[in-house]
Amino acid sequence: MSGEQGHASDQVVDGVTLRAAVVQDARALLHFKRIVLRETEFLLQGPEDLSDQLSDESALIDSFGRHSGCLLLLAWEGQQIVGMCTVVAGGLARSRHVGQTGMAVRRSHWRRGIASALLAEVRRWSLVQGGLHKLSLQVHAANLPARRLYERHGFDYEGTLRDEAVVAGQYADLLAMGHILS
Ligand SMILES: CC(C)(COP(=O)(O)OP(=O)(O)OC[C@H]1O[C@@H](n2cnc3c(N)ncnc32)[C@H](O)[C@@H]1OP(=O)(O)O)[C@@H](O)C(=O)NCCC(=O)NCCS
Repeated sequence: MSGEQGHASDQVVDGVTLRAAVVQDARALLHFKRIVLRETEFLLQGPEDLSDQLSDESALIDSFGRHSGCLLLLAWEGQQIVGMCTVVAGGLARSRHVGQTGMAVRRSHWRRGIASALLAEVRRWSLVQGGLHKLSLQVHAANLPARRLYERHGFDYEGTLRDEAVVAGQYADLLAMGHILS
């Protein structure tokens, strides 16, 4: 775990604690992904893309910890992960100030403010610890719950990516959204 990851602060929302992932969380993260990837078609990663290997999950968590400007933030209820939000900063000097973000919450825990708490912490971390200037994301045009969430957190629409994803066998548009942190 890098210092930056470790400094993502704990917060509690309705019995749910937020903290940055450590390698020992790999098994719980894999379990979480097996569930959420089947619960929605609005994530770019589908169940068929999950390697299902514990070692891959460990390596993923480790890589987040080793790159500044990257964060894998988890929401825990007891020993179970119920939500996650990622930030991945650009790899080039001219785009290192931008973090790509994405998130998912277990369906059983929707509408409890967990995504909102994750996003608030991600915004704080990105500015204060990640040293980022902007957060960017892509959201399915039909994903109204996520669009409302991002709008409420100060994201603006920046464009339409036509036929960028596939949902239920059909091409679907993604909307680019961005939020200037400073
Ligand atoms: C989108 C998602 C992350 C929201 O998670 P959540 O924990 O239920 O969201 P919250 O309870 O924090 O809601 C925060 C705000 O988002 C909006 N929102 C969330 N769910 C909504 C819904 N079903 N309908 C309308 N607005 C919704 C509301 O503005 C809400 O604020 P409010 O409850 O005060 O009205 C969750 O539905 C999810 O994981 N969906 C599948 C994966 C996904 O779409 N990820 C985003 C990919 S870009």
